[in-house]
Amino acid sequence: MKKIAVFTSGGDAPGMNAAVRAVVRKSVFHGLSVFGIKRGFQGLINKEIVPMQLGSVADSIHRGGTILLTARSPEFLTAEGQAKAITFLREQQIEGLVVIGGDGSFRGAQVLHEAGILTVGVPATIDNDIAFTDFCIGFDTAVNTVSDAINKLRDTATSHERIYVIEVMGRNSGLIALHAGLAGGAESIIVPEAPFDLTEVCNRLQRGVDRGKLHSIILVAEGAGSALHIGEEIKRIMQLEIRVTILGHLQRGGTPTAFDRILASRLAAKAVDLLLEGKSGLMTGFYKGEVAATPFTEVFKKQKEFSWDDYKLAAILAI
Ligand code: F6P
Repeated sequence: MKKIAVFTSGGDAPGMNAAVRAVVRKSVFHGLSVFGIKRGFQGLINKEIVPMQLGSVADSIHRGGTILLTARSPEFLTAEGQAKAITFLREQQIEGLVVIGGDGSFRGAQVLHEAGILTVGVPATIDNDIAFTDFCIGFDTAVNTVSDAINKLRDTATSHERIYVIEVMGRNSGLIALHAGLAGGAESIIVPEAPFDLTEVCNRLQRGVDRGKLHSIILVAEGAGSALHIGEEIKRIMQLEIRVTILGHLQRGGTPTAFDRILASRLAAKAVDLLLEGKSGLMTGFYKGEVAATPFTEVFKKQKEFSWDDYKLAAILAI
C-alpha cells in the first residue's frame, strides 16, 4: 500500500481533528502518501482531494469541528453518486480509505469496501450510538459540555427557585442525557430507551420541593420528546415556574477533552495499521477496555447497549 485517503462525514464531533491528525502522522511514519477528502462522501463525488503532510495537521489536536469539513450526502445514496465516488478513488489510485464518522458514514464505507476499496471506519459521533465501541469520539466532550451547562443553569435555577427542563442531543440515544444527568445530579432523566411517566416525574419534583429543594433539573434526550412540551405539561400539573433550555448544536462544538483526543489518536492509528495489514470493512473501537476491530456488518446488526445500572443509579442518587 502506498496511497491512502481520509475524510470526516456526517455530524461533526469534537476529536475528529485529533483522528485526522493521527491518520496523517501514522501514515507518514509508515512512508505512505496521505490525502484528505473535503466534505466527506460528497467530496469524493465532487473530486475534492488535498495532499496532507505533517504540517497539514499541525495545531489541530485541540480544535473542535473538522479541518476537512463534513457533510451529509444524499447524492452518495444513489447508485450514480456511488459510481462517481468509486471511479474517482480508482482514478486517484487510492488504495486505502479511513472514514471518520457515525453509523450512516459506515453504511457508505461498506459500499466502498464492497467495491473493492480497502476501507476502515473510525467511530466519531457525540451520540455514542454505535455498538462494539464503548465510546465514540466526541461523546465525552459533549457530556462535559452538557454537564457544564447544567452547573450554570443550576445557579440561576437556585436563585429563582425554578425547575429547569434541559433538552440535549443524541438522536435516538439517551446516552448523553444519562451520562450528563449522572454527572450533573439531575432530578429526572428522560430517555427514549425507557418509558416515562410524567406523573411520577412530577411526584419526584414535588417531594424535592416539599423538603426545601431550591431547584430541580430535568434532562430530556431529544429522542424521548420535546422539552418544550414536557415543560408545558409539568407547569400545567404542578403550577410552578418552569424554564426550558434546548442546548442544541453547542453540544457539538468546543475543544475536545483529553479523553476524546486520546481515544481519537488510538482508534485512528489502529485504522492505518489495519489498512497496512490489507484489512477492510472494519470499524475500530474501544471495546471492553481494548482497542478492537469489528466488521461493519456486525456493527449494523447490533444495538448499542444502554447502561441500565447507571440509569437506576441516577434515579437513586437524585431521590
Ligand atoms: O448525530 C449528531 C447529531 O448532533 C444528533 O445528536 C442530532 O440529532 C443531529 O446530529 C443534528 O443534525 P444537524 O446538524 O443536521 O442538525
